[in-house]
Amino acid sequence: MTEKQKPPRVMIVDDTPQNIQVLGTTLRRENYQIYVAQNGLQALGMMNEILPDLILLDVMMPELDGFETCKRLKAEERTRHIPVIFLTAKAETNDIVHGFELGAVDYVTKPFNATELLIRVRTQLELKSSRDEIERISNERKALVHILCHDLANPMSTMISILNMQDFFATFDEMRELLLSAVENGLNVIQLVREMQALDEHRLNLESLNLLSMVTESERLLQARFQDKQVALHINIPNDIQVQVERTSFVNSVINNLLTNALKFSYPNTEVNLTAEVTNAHKVILRIQDFGIGMSEKLVSGLFDVHKTTSRRGTEGEQGTGFGMPLVQKFVEAYGGEIEVTSSSEKEHPKQHGTVISLHLLRSE
Ligand SMILES: Nc1ncnc2c1ncn2[C@@H]1O[C@H](COP(=O)(O)OP(=O)(O)OP(=O)(O)O)[C@@H](O)[C@H]1O
Ligand SMILES: [Mg+2]
Repeated sequence: MTEKQKPPRVMIVDDTPQNIQVLGTTLRRENYQIYVAQNGLQALGMMNEILPDLILLDVMMPELDGFETCKRLKAEERTRHIPVIFLTAKAETNDIVHGFELGAVDYVTKPFNATELLIRVRTQLELKSSRDEIERISNERKALVHILCHDLANPMSTMISILNMQDFFATFDEMRELLLSAVENGLNVIQLVREMQALDEHRLNLESLNLLSMVTESERLLQARFQDKQVALHINIPNDIQVQVERTSFVNSVINNLLTNALKFSYPNTEVNLTAEVTNAHKVILRIQDFGIGMSEKLVSGLFDVHKTTSRRGTEGEQGTGFGMPLVQKFVEAYGGEIEVTSSSEKEHPKQHGTVISLHLLRSE
């Protein structure tokens, strides 16, 4: 989201200071972020630090000319997708053709006409932004397919093993129970993917809602499981805090998953604390704290990545999919909030371990 709001980055590569000045002044009027390199080598060196959205590349430069620079840009995976517009002298048709052959998307002739330059630059930036958006959507789709394939395979294999072991069960009811729980697992995965898709396709219907009442609703759904495992759930949230969220996802996905995780990775006879703090007129932090097994730094760093395996069994063997947290993050970000994780693992800190998940939410009237 923030990526989109940043001004497009345009790099000018030219060895003539006067050209740089003319181009820079014209482009700055459009609020582009301008970077300047005085030759091809310098431009390539700068690619480690900044990846521009567009490069304006002079053909004639000492050391490394524009053609060679373009060739090298197109040879690198990291830079090959950056559109290049060549800056050429008017008469050089050969240059223009050669530039296109090397992968340039357009050219501008010197002396520059400001209107023409701006139109060409804007067109290429718009095309790049559409391509980036298509790629983003395609990556999201890949992630969904990944979840579906990976996680539907588990319950299906379980069902096959159960069916193959039918002689092992004394009664049909015993077998039925295991089959049902496998089917339920599969349906949960499908539900998760549906929610992710809904999130991608529509904007959520955000409302101003009472934090305590939603947390209490979620608590009711999980009360029995907390009691079963002898984990005490303490809620300490003022009853006058309103936050900007979407109700169903907040209660059923966000709070539910965070409480389920806190419970799953806690030991019996410990506690889970839910607190809220108003930090200023517009922000609220909701904290879910447990004293369970905690997470290593490596695990935390992959926690929101659907391609990383983070799922572990709970302290009493409870199973999960590992997709809860990526979904929680997506929802929280869709509310305009942020999620923060602080954890110390039992392995590294045997005396004091546990996890605090902080949700930074927008406060409303
Ligand atoms: N409070 C926590 N304490 C310790 N580890 C945690 C905690 N929350 C998450 N984790 C670790 O992160 C992993 C991923 O959590 P996530 O909620 O994404 O998936 P899951 O709980 O394994 O599966 P699901 O949410 O689908 O039931 C967990 O399996 C666990 O290893
Ligand atoms: Mg979970």
